[in-house]
Amino acid sequence: EEKRRQRLREAVELAARLFHHLLMNTEHGEEARDYLTRRGIQRSTMEEFQLGYAPDSYRFLLSFLKRRGFQEEELINAGLIAQRDTSANGVLSYYDRFRGRVMFPIHDSQGRVIAFGGRLLGEGRPKYLNSPETPLFHKGKFLFNLHRARKSIRKQNQAVLFEGYMDVIAAWQAGVTHGVATLGTALTDSQAQVIRRNAETAIICYDSDTAGQQAADRGLDVLKNRECIVKVAQMPHGMDPDDYIGRFGSQAFIDKVLAQALPFTAFKLETLKKNVDLKDEDERMQYLTQAVEVVAQLPRAIERDHYLRRLSEEFGISLDALKQEQRKAASKK
Ligand code: GTP
Ligand code: MN
Ligand code: MN
Ligand code: MN
Ligand code: MN
Repeated sequence: EEKRRQRLREAVELAARLFHHLLMNTEHGEEARDYLTRRGIQRSTMEEFQLGYAPDSYRFLLSFLKRRGFQEEELINAGLIAQRDTSANGVLSYYDRFRGRVMFPIHDSQGRVIAFGGRLLGEGRPKYLNSPETPLFHKGKFLFNLHRARKSIRKQNQAVLFEGYMDVIAAWQAGVTHGVATLGTALTDSQAQVIRRNAETAIICYDSDTAGQQAADRGLDVLKNRECIVKVAQMPHGMDPDDYIGRFGSQAFIDKVLAQALPFTAFKLETLKKNVDLKDEDERMQYLTQAVEVVAQLPRAIERDHYLRRLSEEFGISLDALKQEQRKAASKK
């Protein structure tokens, strides 16, 4: 069994080296190189992340690895090869899973390649294709870039959580070396545990669109349950961290987005605010009621006091009235 896993590791590692070589040194990789360059990725970053290119061919990797003595069965297990029934005669044919894509190797916590994400060079679907679950790769357990970021996460006692590969990489180029990403799925409890083992604080820096903000709201609760201090970074609507860095630069990303990330409660209040029209008196009162409910749930009295005072100032409502509402909200629980 351990021997079989070892074979899978070797296949995935060889594939990563082949893809990387193709991207960096060959004519096959030129279009992908240009694509990454256009997206602001430096050559040294392609090296650091061992980025690669899978050619637009059905049998490139397959032939390569077969020549190296691997069986189709093993390569399917490793998530590198897929299989289809070529109809009439019932003959199975095997083909490369990743074709015509920029390849992002995914490593385990010890820095061994276990899987890939692959992005199309242009438009099309699916935009990203990830390795399936394999004996080496369980999506909900790994964080992209953890092995590289861990030292920096520990040193800063903080992790930055992104949605996408490109966000992690763009942030890394901007000097933010403590970023990791979930692999296109919601943050799991086991990922939150990994983060908490390495740092006290987590900054969620997801895309500034509806999907991203909903995912942030859920991630917030998952991390809070593991007793992380959680903050949520804010960006102009429609942008993701990679877009932001490309448009406004590294320093702005560090000073305006990360340094000004909203603490848990402030983020919850901002989220509520987005759903109401504060110029409308009824909606303003509705917001205040909901805001007081958020505050009422805070475990610490000083925090509750702080936020009630802020609401009192912001809306010109007496602190007494807000406190009364808070007691009502607390007794409802
Ligand atoms: P770029 O367009 O390259 O900047 O990618 P992005 O990271 O901004 O993409 P997006 O915000 O749409 O998605 C975030 C992450 O979700 C990606 O990095 C992928 O891990 C994952 N993802 C996006 N699209 C797909 C898809 O079509 N299939 C799968 N399985 N995952 C996806
Ligand atoms: Mn290299
Ligand atoms: Mn998105
Ligand atoms: Mn995005
Ligand atoms: Mn993006």
